[in-house]
Amino acid sequence: MNRKLLTREEFEALRRESAAAMAQDAALQRKAADLIVEADRYYWIHQTTWLGAPVLQLPQDMFAVQEIVFRSRPRFIVETGVAWGGSLLFHATLLSALGGERVIGIDIHTPEHVHRTLRSFGPLSDRIAVVEGSSTDQAVFDRVRAMIGDCRDVLVILDSFHTHEHVLQELRLYSSLVGEGHYLVCCDTHVEYIPEIVSNRPRPWGKGNNPKTALDAFLNENDRFEIDRDIERKLLLTLHPGGYLRCRTR
Ligand SMILES: C[S@@+](CC[C@H](N)C(=O)[O-])C[C@H]1O[C@@H](n2cnc3c(N)ncnc32)[C@H](O)[C@@H]1O
Repeated sequence: MNRKLLTREEFEALRRESAAAMAQDAALQRKAADLIVEADRYYWIHQTTWLGAPVLQLPQDMFAVQEIVFRSRPRFIVETGVAWGGSLLFHATLLSALGGERVIGIDIHTPEHVHRTLRSFGPLSDRIAVVEGSSTDQAVFDRVRAMIGDCRDVLVILDSFHTHEHVLQELRLYSSLVGEGHYLVCCDTHVEYIPEIVSNRPRPWGKGNNPKTALDAFLNENDRFEIDRDIERKLLLTLHPGGYLRCRTR
C-alpha cells in the first residue's frame, strides 16, 4: 500500500477542523463532562504521577501545559498549590528540556516528605523553589515577585484554594506577572458544571462559588487576557474549561 503522508500544514488544518467540529458536538461534550463528574467519585484525578510523585491533574491538562510551555517558552513557572509536588517536577522537567529557569510553587503547607522528594532529583531539583504561606498574602506574593524580578516571560498556574474570593484575589495578584503572549491557567473551572454537591468529599466551593465564577469576574475587569479557545476545543476532557488564558499582544 502506498499511502501519501500529509504535509505538516495539511495535518494541522485537519487537526483544527476536527477539533472545531468536536467542540460543536454537544452530545459528546455532555458525555465528557459527565465522565469527569462520575469518575470523581473514584478520585480519578489522583491517579496520575510524574517521576513517581502524584499530580492532581488529568493527563490531558498536563499535555496542554506542555504545549503552552513549548510554544510560549516561559523563563519561570509559578504555581499556587503544590500538594504532592508532582506538578512542580513536571514543570521543572519541561523547563529543563526547553531552557527555562525556575519553577516556584506556593502552598500554605508542604510536608517535609514532599520537600525531600522535591530535593531528590539533582539538577532538576535546583530549578524548584517552594514558598510557604497563603498565595493571597501580599508578603508571599512579594517574595515570589522578587524571585522573578522584572521578567514577565512567566506562566502562572492557579491551583490552590478554589473559592470565588480566593481565586479572584489570586487572579488580580498573579496576572501582573504574566507578559504579552504568555499564559495564565485558572484550574478547576469545571466545578461550576458539577450539577450539585455530588462529590464524596465536601468542599467549601461549589456551583456559584468557584474558579469559573472568579474568572468571569476577573475577565470583566481586566482586558489583558483572552481565553485560548484552540486549546479548549481539542482537549475534550479537561478540568479547566475556559481556564487557559493568553495575555494579549497589543
Ligand atoms: C489541588 S491541590 C494542588 C495540586 C497541584 N497543583 C497538582 O497539580 O498536583 C491544592 C493545594 O493548595 C493548597 N492550599 C490551600 N489553601 C491555600 C492557600 N491559601 N494558599 C496556597 N496554597 C493553598 C493545599 O495545601 C493543597 O496542597
